[in-house]
Amino acid sequence: MKIVSIVGARPQFIKAAPVSRALRPVAHEVLVHTGQHYDKNMSGVFFAELHIPEPDYNLGIGSGSHGWQTGQMLIRIEEVLLRERPDGVLVYGDTNSTLAGALAAVKLHIPIAHVEAGLRSFNRAMPEELNRVLTDHAADLLFCPTQTAVECLAREGITHGVTLTGDVMFDAYLYNAKLAEARSATLTGLGVRSGGYLLATVHRPANTDDPATLRGILDALEATGETVIFPVHPRTCKALESAGIRPGPHVRLIEPVGYLDMLVLEKHAHLILTDSGGVQKEAYMAAVPCITLRRDTEWPETVAAGWNVLVGANPARIREAVRTFRPVTEQPPLFGDGHAAQHIAALCAAMLEEHPLL
Ligand code: UD1
Ligand code: UDP
Repeated sequence: MKIVSIVGARPQFIKAAPVSRALRPVAHEVLVHTGQHYDKNMSGVFFAELHIPEPDYNLGIGSGSHGWQTGQMLIRIEEVLLRERPDGVLVYGDTNSTLAGALAAVKLHIPIAHVEAGLRSFNRAMPEELNRVLTDHAADLLFCPTQTAVECLAREGITHGVTLTGDVMFDAYLYNAKLAEARSATLTGLGVRSGGYLLATVHRPANTDDPATLRGILDALEATGETVIFPVHPRTCKALESAGIRPGPHVRLIEPVGYLDMLVLEKHAHLILTDSGGVQKEAYMAAVPCITLRRDTEWPETVAAGWNVLVGANPARIREAVRTFRPVTEQPPLFGDGHAAQHIAALCAAMLEEHPLL
């Protein structure tokens, strides 16, 4: 059985690592990297650290508008699928690489498996939300990380092919957290101590593309008076430069870090402030309180559990949350048993072998 897996952006490399490891003993995996992310610290470092196999195809698409980028990917992925004629296509998450992979496959009647199916922020202004909805409605196998995701799909009439597998990012977290702990140089290199800093990441267009909003977030971080370690996503870097925004002395902008360093920074942060989907979950896994710089989240369980609070980009609410948000409840398990990737690999192998459409 041959499966073409499609990745392209940072969080997809992290999700693909455990799945690829579980899939390769039971299927022939052909790995396609669209090239959506291409800087060494947004792409290459993850392949090296997480021992992800070299992509069989690197399409080198790069950056562009949504239409251009998705269209280029669609054209090039279709060529790969026509050449490889796989039994199934595996897509991850909610990026333009996900949507392009799903569209290319569905038009060729190739079964699609979607890892991280059923997530909804109910905010259609987020490009990811459309990617999620469209991919789920094209998919044949829908692997849900949470029960909430299963219920979101059911509300849209999708019940066939849906499985609650748990979250592959939890698998990745468990596998790598111990390796990460050995990296004591991460904190000393930055001159911070465990519990002595806040960790921030910001990359959503809603927060980066309006200079006043971005400036408000940076000012609020500075006003906390605490050291803030802020690995800067390239989108945010460009936005800061073009708006001429310079952080105050408490906010330490650093290059994007590798996954193992990120796990260390998360584990030892006093609080995490982020608009990232993955970082919200990892904050929970690390048992570090999370302040989410958005008004909605596709991970509402973390909020319901009392470990995540949504404050948007409102500077007063950010400052207030840093001062007062302290979880008081135990953490219920939210993300499965740490074997989501094995469940996914077994389901792919069984279902695609039973129902080959090609
Ligand atoms: C993309 C995903 C988003 C995901 C994020 C993970 C879409 C619509 N968005 O957002 O869901 O949360 O990845 O990080 O798919 N750039 C570089 N070097 C790179 C990559 C990007 O400089 O290696 C710059 C380019 O100027 C580019 C900008 O970052 O235009 C944005 O990149 P893009 O991949 O379009 O979207 P992200 O904001 O990264
Ligand atoms: N991440 C990383 N280095 C960084 C910032 C994030 O390794 O400098 C990891 C983070 O630990 C998580 C993933 O990237 O596993 C989240 O990706 P991102 O925030 O880019 O996208 P999202 O999850 O919002 O789609």
